[in-house]
Amino acid sequence: MKTVYTSDPIEAARFIQRGGIVAFPTETVYGLGANVFDEKAVAKIFEAKQRPSDNPLIAHVSSVEQIIQLAAGVTAAAENLITRFFPGPLTVVLRKRLEVPDVATAGLDTIGIRMPRFEVAHEFLIACATPVVAPSANLSGRPSPTTWQAVAEDLDGRIDCILQGDATEIGLESTVVDCTSEVPLVLRSGSISLEQLREVIPATVVYETPDTEVPRSPGLRHKHYSPRARIILVADVRELGETQAAGFIGLSRPAAKFEREYICSTVEDYAHSIFEFFRECDRAGVQAIYCERVEEQGIGVALMDRLRRAAEE
Ligand code: TXA
Ligand code: MG
Repeated sequence: MKTVYTSDPIEAARFIQRGGIVAFPTETVYGLGANVFDEKAVAKIFEAKQRPSDNPLIAHVSSVEQIIQLAAGVTAAAENLITRFFPGPLTVVLRKRLEVPDVATAGLDTIGIRMPRFEVAHEFLIACATPVVAPSANLSGRPSPTTWQAVAEDLDGRIDCILQGDATEIGLESTVVDCTSEVPLVLRSGSISLEQLREVIPATVVYETPDTEVPRSPGLRHKHYSPRARIILVADVRELGETQAAGFIGLSRPAAKFEREYICSTVEDYAHSIFEFFRECDRAGVQAIYCERVEEQGIGVALMDRLRRAAEE
């Protein structure tokens, strides 16, 4: 398949309307979209990404009316979170309508819904005139793409179109919150922090998978976010030796010299840069990447979550 590259959201949306799959930018990471109501198109996403079919997709909407098209009911908790955080990097999980095909939700009776705030994403979704289900636009298991070039690296020739936008703003995926009951459960951390969610609903809790139970968010079962290089987390950069045939990313400047290094100005910059840095190290053939740990507050929670998964800690 020849992949079409365009910076015109309306041209990209035509591929969705014809049953194709399209990568598009959002404020979190690039997504790989299809019309939620077109089962064949949705199946193509799983094939292109080599994504396990038991991992449900998030539906992206451009209006409140589209939420109603997907959700069987909107709980009070969801309504409050939607009012406060939509459009933005938050996904709410609600009971789905029967019309939503099972392939989109991996057979679950719930669906994750989010309204991106990135202008190009919004224009694209409006032109699609249907909710668009989209996982991150990477090959399954690889770091999420934060630039269209990273999407091309994984998916050129496997998808119909890439909507070329700017690099994403946040760089980590959305916060996923199960709102099917009155107590919101955070299934995946993201840039909207637990503290921010609790400002709206103080009872919000983080879902911890009991060892014996299947995780609520099926995606959390699968290996994630990994570059080919081995990831090693470090608490104190002074532990690092003189020179290293390796990569380094963190907030502190180590004394050691690295083949590839990026010293981040803030934890937000770290979150924004981590996935692209992983990819850069892979392109350079770096075998190991040292990542400095950060304090687990604000977006540091989500960043540490992704770092631990990449390190398989
Ligand atoms: O920021 C994002 O969320 C990006 C952009 C493209 O929107 N999307 C994204 O999608 O990260 P993906 O498929 O890579 O991750 C979706 C996560 C997975 O962990 C999945 O298991 C979970 O959300 N999820 C989706 N639908 C769910 C549902 N109905 N119940 C529980 N978890 C769900
Ligand atoms: Mg993903």
